[in-house]
Amino acid sequence: MNPATIKILHIDSNNPIMMEQLQEAGFTNHEDFKSSKEAIEEKIHDYHGIIIRSRFNIDRTFLDKGKNLQFIARVGAGLESIDTDYAKSKNIKLIAAPEGNRNAVGEHSLGMLLSLFNKLNQADKEIRAGHWNREKNRGHELDGKTVGIIGYGNMGKSFAKKLRGFDVKVLCYDIKKNVGDDNAKQVSLEELQQKSDVLSLHIPWTSETDKLVDTKYINAFSKPFWLINTSRGKNVVTADLAEALKSGKILGAGLDVLEYEKLSFETLFEADSIPDAFQYLLDSENVILSPHIAGWTFESHVKLSQVIVHKIKAHYFGEIQLEKEEKRVTGIGGFFFKSENPSELKNWYKKHLNLNTDDYGCTFWWKNEKGERCSTQWSPFKDDTKYFEPSEKQFMQNFRVENLEKLLEKFKEEKVQVIGEMESHDYGKFAWILDLEGNKIELWEPIDSVFE
Ligand SMILES: NC(=O)c1ccc[n+]([C@@H]2O[C@H](COP(=O)([O-])OP(=O)(O)OC[C@H]3O[C@@H](n4cnc5c(N)ncnc54)[C@H](O)[C@@H]3O)[C@@H](O)[C@H]2O)c1
Repeated sequence: MNPATIKILHIDSNNPIMMEQLQEAGFTNHEDFKSSKEAIEEKIHDYHGIIIRSRFNIDRTFLDKGKNLQFIARVGAGLESIDTDYAKSKNIKLIAAPEGNRNAVGEHSLGMLLSLFNKLNQADKEIRAGHWNREKNRGHELDGKTVGIIGYGNMGKSFAKKLRGFDVKVLCYDIKKNVGDDNAKQVSLEELQQKSDVLSLHIPWTSETDKLVDTKYINAFSKPFWLINTSRGKNVVTADLAEALKSGKILGAGLDVLEYEKLSFETLFEADSIPDAFQYLLDSENVILSPHIAGWTFESHVKLSQVIVHKIKAHYFGEIQLEKEEKRVTGIGGFFFKSENPSELKNWYKKHLNLNTDDYGCTFWWKNEKGERCSTQWSPFKDDTKYFEPSEKQFMQNFRVENLEKLLEKFKEEKVQVIGEMESHDYGKFAWILDLEGNKIELWEPIDSVFE
């Protein structure tokens, strides 16, 4: 395939690296940041790819005119401005770049939450107006609270990761099964509503999530709670939010997105048509607003473009690595060895080396370079154990790994000998391989918290 035959139309300005790298890869690129949707429809048949941010909707009419479209890339996370079902029915590849702005959204959500809890915006305003109000601006602490995340995808996961340093419980609810991880426990919606002190929305805008947070939904929470919304404005009924703020059921709200935003996210509305509910938010001290910028950082501006370029190249030239090669092994997970009499041996280690042993051996705690608490297990096994088989050695190593499933795929390509099937337990995922000399290695993608 000669990439020069692939014509790409850019209809929004993006970071210059996008154009540079697509040119370098040999694609033919044209820019048109000004023409109307109708004018672009007139020429879209001439292009194989289009790169859009949020300038207009890509609907059926547009897709019917884009007879030769092979891909649509959206420089952002959501694809709701595109008729995705119709595009897929036409075999058009849809490309988004949530990897590019998820860190920004995680940090912004945390920033909003901390600003709300510590009344930073209000206190700042008061000082500028000459008021030094300490008692009125007494804050709350996150410590000990429960944070409930709705939608545990790119953004939800990023927010949960940012919360790791706080002593909070993080729960998530998602329509997909088994998305919970070390950073958030997946629970039913009812449990999340029963336990949460903070609700953070990270769902797409779909027919099911339109107006999701209304009076009924809010009242299903057992406790008064704080709300953070960085997903889409239309996920929340603003009038119901205003009522809940008035009644104290919602203690405060951080809103990066508003029900009234235009789909392009570029404007709000004319100043003379402010709805009452929105006016209430504007007048409320316990509400923080930002203009749809959670994912909008200097860093994400570069990363979004980079991810789009990588994905377009991967589409045409085959899979290439999107992110840096992940670390495979991240530490020693355990040292297991055979012993004639494990319980006597454990006592010896307890007495002379002061190891804090239990039935399984001893757990050592340490921190990795990201400051995360990690555990390593030391365990003597009875000498007739079958656990080290087919290895006949007296010991078995255990390595901590970052992404076991991905690693197993790589092993398949590399023809590494895998023993048995991968297993999932509440303390992590496991798989076993043999090295060149037949030593059995246990691989562990850990959930360390269960040992605490
Ligand atoms: N404010 C910003 O600047 C900004 C930036 C990026 C993304 N976003 C928004 O954040 C949201 C999430 O983006 P993402 O990339 O994490 O998406 P994602 O697809 O990776 O994750 C969304 C998750 O929500 C789940 N979900 C869908 N419907 C649900 C429902 N009814 N109840 C519970 N869970 C449901 C999905 O199963 C999925 O796991 C989107 O609305 C996106 O547009 C906003």
